[in-house]
Amino acid sequence: MTIYKSKSFLAPLSGINDPAFRLLCSELGAGLTYTELISIHGILHHKDNIRSFIEYSDNEKPRAIQLFGSDIEKTVQAAEIVEKHFDIIDFNLGCPSPKITEQNAGAALLKKPEHVKKLLSKLVKAVDKPVSIKVRAGIDNKSCFLFKNIAKIAEESGVSMIALHARTLKQGYSGKANWEWIKELKESVSIPVIGNGDVNTPEDAEKMIKETGCDYVMIGRASIGNPFIFKQCNDYFKNGKYEVLNDKKKIDYFFKYLEYAKEFDVSFSKIKVHAMWRTKGMIGGAGLRREISQVKNLDELKKIFHKLY
Ligand SMILES: Cc1cc2nc3c(=O)[nH]c(=O)nc-3n(C[C@H](O)[C@H](O)[C@H](O)COP(=O)(O)O)c2cc1C
Repeated sequence: MTIYKSKSFLAPLSGINDPAFRLLCSELGAGLTYTELISIHGILHHKDNIRSFIEYSDNEKPRAIQLFGSDIEKTVQAAEIVEKHFDIIDFNLGCPSPKITEQNAGAALLKKPEHVKKLLSKLVKAVDKPVSIKVRAGIDNKSCFLFKNIAKIAEESGVSMIALHARTLKQGYSGKANWEWIKELKESVSIPVIGNGDVNTPEDAEKMIKETGCDYVMIGRASIGNPFIFKQCNDYFKNGKYEVLNDKKKIDYFFKYLEYAKEFDVSFSKIKVHAMWRTKGMIGGAGLRREISQVKNLDELKKIFHKLY
């Protein structure tokens, strides 16, 4: 059985969840970290050098890999290749991006329960590690309860845990996540449920658990600007209070990220994206983001942050 470090998990975030960021979040108390979504075809293509294709630190524990695809045999093969490196194999049934849904993967699979049943049953049987899934509620308002059928199928297939981003595919990121759906999911399955959508503070995390009965919360966008949120949640759950970071401390954590990013050779363009997110909510943030958008290398980027303190 996987032992999670805490109740708040780092969401899979494409373009953000490089190994340096995941390690930082894990060290700051994320109960479980996820890679960004990774193509099963990419894994098969890189099967002979998988550790350099999907990097991680042994200190990032426990860790999940998120796979996306549609082909059953290839999904199983990809999972078999990566399973020894991860504690959980997660399968994506929620990505709304047309690049993914056009391949009949991600949220498009919500409309294909028979296919999902075959895929998940085979996947669970093929690997020793627990299999989890992450879903959206449905395609649009009319089909917003597709998750219920998929969750039932997943549970019957031996899936160990299910995360629900409580929005439909059509919603994208607009509107508010409907936590009522998370409650309905929790009431309809007996496997652990991870609630996801619009948890921006430790108070939100506690509220989601109280209102929906979910076992864990998954935090996405709020963690990009503030990976410290995992420690804040853990402290809040334990003691009812948490430290609010001043800008100086936020910058210190960004430098910690840069240290790890060097270790893993994270590309400068990805580092810049992180730098942008980190300035959200900081004094003079908009001006800083303008400056960051102009920098050409790491030294120039560091100078912007150094000159603040
Ligand atoms: C930049 C970005 C990249 C994302 N990439 C993925 C991904 O690779 N796999 C996935 O299942 N969801 C992905 N998501 C969705 C998040 O995991 C999460 O479900 C969503 O952001 C809602 O949670 P939040 O309100 O805490 O941000 C992504 C979201 C964002 C903003």
